[in-house]
Amino acid sequence: MKLSKRMGNIPPYLFVEIGKKIAAKKAKGESVISFAVGDPDIPTPPRIIERLCQAAQDPANHRYPETAGLPELRQAIAGWYKSRFGVSLDADKEVLPLLGSKEGVAHIALCFINPGDIALVPDPAYPPYAMGTIIADGRPYYMPLTEKNNFLPDLDAIPSNVLKEAKLLWINYPNNPTGAVADLDFFNRVVKFAQQHDLAVCHDGPYSEVAFDGYQAVSFLQAEGAREVGVEFHSLSKSYNMTGWRIGMAVGNAEMVAALRDVKSNLDSGIPQAIQYAAIEALTGPQGCIPEHNAIYQRRRDLVVETLNSIGLEAKSPKAALYVWAKVPEGYTSMGFADDLLEKVGVAVTPGTGYGKNGEGYVRLSLTIPDAGLVKGLSRLAEWRSGKLRPKAKK
Ligand SMILES: Cc1ncc(COP(=O)(O)O)c(C=O)c1O
Repeated sequence: MKLSKRMGNIPPYLFVEIGKKIAAKKAKGESVISFAVGDPDIPTPPRIIERLCQAAQDPANHRYPETAGLPELRQAIAGWYKSRFGVSLDADKEVLPLLGSKEGVAHIALCFINPGDIALVPDPAYPPYAMGTIIADGRPYYMPLTEKNNFLPDLDAIPSNVLKEAKLLWINYPNNPTGAVADLDFFNRVVKFAQQHDLAVCHDGPYSEVAFDGYQAVSFLQAEGAREVGVEFHSLSKSYNMTGWRIGMAVGNAEMVAALRDVKSNLDSGIPQAIQYAAIEALTGPQGCIPEHNAIYQRRRDLVVETLNSIGLEAKSPKAALYVWAKVPEGYTSMGFADDLLEKVGVAVTPGTGYGKNGEGYVRLSLTIPDAGLVKGLSRLAEWRSGKLRPKAKK
């Protein structure tokens, strides 16, 4: 048996590797507190689960769904975009429900990338932007996100020979892993840049509803001309704690939406309908759960940022998303620091280099960890630090 050459370019998924390290520790009977994965610990709101259970009882929902999703779901998505962002969408042409946004994010490269074509991908970033490109036999060109640039790509620094071969431009705000946010001015600049260089833009925005201190994220589609050049991916995973149900959407440019639908209709058989009804309930029902969840995350964010800074690990307070992006102590690499924390005090964090080489010098801590675990984890971090500060015992 011979695997394709492509497989040689596909590393195991970041969290699979971290999960293995955690499992090995636990198998030895050791306790591990994980700040690694951004998977909300708070349950899906009851009204959504009730609708899901009710819909699961209906035999009409036991059959194959349509790839395009239920018209009522597409309408609900369009209605949500109108009320949340003031963006009007044609529910038939500009909205495509997804089996969680990750699959759409990874599959869209198949619509635009010919072998050897370039996709412009931020670094650090959520891995599927680059991996989708590689699976489509394309080449990612990495745009560094640095503190100096407020973790926004410097579009003018992309060489012209790269731009000639580039087909897709990926951006993601509120950003995973850095917690950075972007304003409408930045999105307007992206639209102009895409028009100038004939690029299709993919904005990934699953964290738009997870925001703190009154911050409200904008949608890429609010930028002038955005729907002529791009789509936005969004998800119910983080807004409504629905990671396990797998539902998201791509909205915007009709041609891009149609191309993704064509690819998907050949690959999957739609979203289980009971989950689509649950999503309709999520988007159209009372939205009080969002500020409730955000208040919990904000409290956790404050605790994490305060503790990290108090033990000398520099971290800024993010305005949005579920993560704190913290600098590793001097003398450590990201991976070395993450390994040391796991080994010495049983705390799992994600090494910044898991998101690209510009993640070196950082680790990511997720706020999706129940309060008791969070407090215990933070006290273990302080323990790690005081162990480092203690003078070494003489031999
Ligand atoms: C930036 C980003 N995009 C997309 C996703 C995928 O979300 P889902 O597939 O659950 O909709 C995630 C999940 O962590 C993410 O961090």
